[in-house]
Amino acid sequence: MATKDTTKKPAAKAAPKASPTASTTTNGQAPSVQPVLNQQFNAPAPLQKYGTVSQRLPIGLNEKTRQQSVNNLNQMLADTITLRDLYKKHHWQVVGPTFYQLHLLYDKHYEEQSVLVDTIAERIQILGGVAVAMAHDVAELASIPRPPRDREEAPIQVSRLLEAHQIILKNCHDFAEQADESGDDGSNDLFISEVLRANEMQVWFVSEHVVDTPLVRS
Ligand SMILES: [Fe+2]
Repeated sequence: MATKDTTKKPAAKAAPKASPTASTTTNGQAPSVQPVLNQQFNAPAPLQKYGTVSQRLPIGLNEKTRQQSVNNLNQMLADTITLRDLYKKHHWQVVGPTFYQLHLLYDKHYEEQSVLVDTIAERIQILGGVAVAMAHDVAELASIPRPPRDREEAPIQVSRLLEAHQIILKNCHDFAEQADESGDDGSNDLFISEVLRANEMQVWFVSEHVVDTPLVRS
C-alpha cells in the first residue's frame, strides 16, 4: 500500500517577477546605481537662513528673546569651539618637564569643552536658531585671538589658555544676565550651571601650572 509522503514540502509560491529595472538589468547584471552628486550647486533656498529664528518649537519665548539668546549663544559657541581646539593644539604640541601632566590635562579639558559645544549648539536649535558650525565661520565670529601655528613653550600655552577662558567667562556673565532679564531661564541656566562652572574649574586646574619661576622660560 502506497503511503503518503508527509515529508514533501508544499510547493513554494512563485516569487513575483522582479522588474528588470528594480534589481537587475535586462542583461542580468547588477544595476550601477549612483548617488546624485553636486546637488548643492542647484539647491533651492536653504531651509533656514543663518541669523534668523523660527517659532517652530512652542517653548513660551517670544522672537526678540530668542533672537538675543541665539546671537549670544552663537558667540559663546564660536569661542567654545576655538578654546576646545586650542586645547587639542596644546595637547599635541606641549613640551618640557611637565609634558605628561599637561598632555593629559589638555585632552581632558578638550573633551569637556566638546560636551559644552554640543550643549550650546543644541540650545540654539531649540530656540529656533541656526548654530554656527564650520571652522571658516567660527574663525570669523570668535573673539578669542588666533594663536600662531607654531609650537610654543608650556608657560605660553598656559597664558594663552587662561586668556581664552577669561574672555569666555566675561561673556558668560553678560549673557547670563541678559538671558535672565529677557526671561530665557534655560539659556541663563546653561550659561551659569554648565559653561561658567566648567570654565572656572578648568581655570583652576590650568592656573596651578603658573608658578613664579617657570621650569621653562620663553
Ligand atoms: Fe591624544
